[in-house]
Amino acid sequence: MVGGSNIARSLVGILWVASSAVSSSLPVHWAGSERQEPGWPVSIGDSVFDSSWPSFGEKTLRWSAFMAPSFNRVFLPETEKVLSDGLRYMTSNNISFLAKSGGHGYSTTLKAAQNVVMINMEKFNYSRINPDGTATIGSGATFYDLIRSLAAVGRQVTVGSCPCVGATGATLGGGVGRLQGLHGLAMDNVRKVRLALWNGTIIEASDKVNKDLFWALRGAGQNFGVVIETTYQTYPAVNGGKHYEANLAFGVDKVKAVIDTMNSLVPLPAPLSLILVGSVNPVTLEPIVALNLVYAGPQKEGRKYTRRFEKFSLSVEENMFTWDELPIKGAGGLTVVKCEKGQNHIMYGLGTKTLDAPSIVRLWSEFGAFLKANPAANSSIILIETFAQQGIKRLPDDYNAFPHRNGIEHLVEFEIAFDDTSVSAAGDAFAKKWRDHFAQPKISGYKETHIYQNYAHGDEPLSQLYGREKWRQKRLTDLKNKFDPRGVFSSYHAIPQRLDAWR
Ligand SMILES: Cc1cc2nc3c(=O)[nH]c(=O)nc-3n(C[C@H](O)[C@H](O)[C@H](O)COP(=O)(O)OP(=O)(O)OC[C@H]3O[C@@H](n4cnc5c(N)ncnc54)[C@H](O)[C@@H]3O)c2cc1C
Ligand SMILES: *[C@@H]1O[C@H](CO)[C@@H](O)[C@H](O)[C@H]1NC(C)=O
Ligand SMILES: *[C@@H]1O[C@H](CO)[C@@H](O)[C@H](O)[C@H]1NC(C)=O
Ligand SMILES: *[C@@H]1O[C@H](CO)[C@@H](O)[C@H](O)[C@H]1NC(C)=O
Ligand SMILES: *[C@@H]1O[C@H](CO)[C@@H](O)[C@H](O)[C@H]1NC(C)=O
Repeated sequence: MVGGSNIARSLVGILWVASSAVSSSLPVHWAGSERQEPGWPVSIGDSVFDSSWPSFGEKTLRWSAFMAPSFNRVFLPETEKVLSDGLRYMTSNNISFLAKSGGHGYSTTLKAAQNVVMINMEKFNYSRINPDGTATIGSGATFYDLIRSLAAVGRQVTVGSCPCVGATGATLGGGVGRLQGLHGLAMDNVRKVRLALWNGTIIEASDKVNKDLFWALRGAGQNFGVVIETTYQTYPAVNGGKHYEANLAFGVDKVKAVIDTMNSLVPLPAPLSLILVGSVNPVTLEPIVALNLVYAGPQKEGRKYTRRFEKFSLSVEENMFTWDELPIKGAGGLTVVKCEKGQNHIMYGLGTKTLDAPSIVRLWSEFGAFLKANPAANSSIILIETFAQQGIKRLPDDYNAFPHRNGIEHLVEFEIAFDDTSVSAAGDAFAKKWRDHFAQPKISGYKETHIYQNYAHGDEPLSQLYGREKWRQKRLTDLKNKFDPRGVFSSYHAIPQRLDAWR
C-alpha cells in the first residue's frame, strides 16, 4: 500500500507551521577593513568579531539553548594560517575558546564554556572527492555537504540521519547511521585527519603518522585540537544510489507488537535500519507511534520487512529515494524539522542489547501523561534507533577509541524540547528517570552501561562513554597530556589528565 494518511507527516506539517515563525536573517557582510578587533594581532584581528557585529547572533547560534556554551567573540578563520595564528595568540594569552563545526553538540558539559571565543569553522565547508575515491571534507561541512558531493559521483559512506549535523563533530565521537551495517561508523572510515594543536602547530594523524593520536581522534576527537579536514574512505553507491523507505504509523495499543517485531528482526540484515519515533500531536496531545524503515537496496527486498509491521499498522507510506534525497525527504521530513536551531533540548541516551517491551509500553504511556501535564514540551520525542551492526562488529575492539562495538544494538534516546523553560525541571526528571531505568542490566541486556558519547547527557561517569578498560583510560590520558597539556580542549566530555580521576 502506497500513500494513505500518514500521521507522522501530518505531525511534521504542524511542526513546520509552528517553526516557520523563527525567521533566519540573511548574512550581513561586515567590511573587514573597517574592523580590527582591538588587541588582536593584525593577521587575525579582522577575522574576529564581538557581539556588536550584526551577524554575531547568527554566527554563534547553536542547536540547543539548554546548558549551552556562551560567547563573547566569534573567530571565523578563512585559512589554516589564520586558524593557527589565532590559536597561538589565544593560548598565549589565556583566552578560552570552543570550536564549532555544525553546532549540534548538546552535552551539558558544554555549559563550562562561558564567555569564550567561538572558533566557527564554517569557511572550511569544502567537500572534495579525490582521484582514489576518498573524500576530503573541511570541518565546516555538514553531513548534507558530504552526502551531496558523494552522491554526485555515485559513492557513499556512513553518515548521520539529519542533514544539518556537522560531519566533523559527529565523526569525532563515532557517527552512527543507516549505512553502518555495510560500512561501520562514519569514524571507522576515516583515513586521515589534519588538525591544529593548542599552540598553532598543524599536524596530520593517520595509520602512518601520529598513529596513537589517530586512534584517539576516532571516538574522543573533541579533546586534542581543532580539526581542519578529514579524509574518508568511500564506497560505490548500492542499488544505483536508490534506497527503499517505508513510514508506518501505529496505535499506542500496538507498541508491544512493534517492539516484539523489532526484537525478532535482530540481528538486522546489513542494509536495514529502523527508527521508532514517539511523539504527540501538538494540538490534541495524543501520542503517536511512527516507524521509519530504510533498506539500502531494491523495493522488493525492503518490502519484506515492512510486511512484518504492516498488518497491525494504521498506515503505510512507501518511497524510493536517492541517497541525497533521504536526509531531506526521509521520515516525512522529520529529519529536517529536527535541524531547527535555538530551542532548548534536554537529551539523554544509551545503548541497549534488547528492547524490553513492558518498559517501552509503560514509557509510551508515561510520555503521553508527561506531555499532557507539560504541553509546552509537546515537540519532545522518544527515538529508538535500531541499525544493523555488521560493519561495526567486524572491526576489532581496539580498532579506535570507540568502546561500544558490542554496546549499541539499539540506541534509546529521550529528547525533551521546549521554549518555555518552566518545564525544564519536569522534563529533566522524566528523561533522567527513564535513562536510569533502561541502564539497569536486566532491562538493557548489557552488564555495563554503554553511552555513545555523542548521545551523552553529560552527567555520566566517563568510563561509560570511553570504556572501562584500564588500557583505554591510560592511553587516552597519556595522549591528552601530550597533545593538550593545558587542557584547552576540555569542554566536551574532557578526558581526565590524571589516571585516578577516571570514574
Ligand atoms: C538533530 C540531531 C541529529 C543527530 N543525528 C545524529 C546521527 O544520525 N548520528 C550521529 O552519530 N550523531 C547524531 N547526532 C549527534 C551528533 O553527532 C552530536 O551532536 C555532534 O556533537 C554534533 O556535531 P556538530 O559538529 O554538529 O556540533 P558542534 O557543537 O559544532 O561540535 C560538537 C563538539 O565537537 C567539537 N568540535 C566541533 N568542531 C570541531 C573541530 N573542527 N575540531 C575539534 N573539535 C570540534 C565542539 O567544540 C564540540 O565540543 C545528532 C544530533 C542532533 C542534534
Ligand atoms: C596564563 O595563565 C598562567 C597560569 O594561570 C599564568 O602563569 C600566565 O602568566 C598567564 N598568562 C597571561 C598572558 O595572562
Ligand atoms: C560555504 O560557506 C560559504 C559562506 O562562508 C557559503 O557561501 C557557501 O555556499 C558554502 N558552501 C557550501 C558547499 O556549503
Ligand atoms: C504545543 O506547544 C506549543 C509551543 O510551546 C504551544 O504554543 C501549544 O499551545 C502547545 N499545544 C498545546 C495543545 O498545548
Ligand atoms: C606544540 O604542541 C605540541 C603538543 O603539545 C608539542 O608536541 C609541540 O612541541 C609544540 N610545538 C611548539 C613549536 O612548541
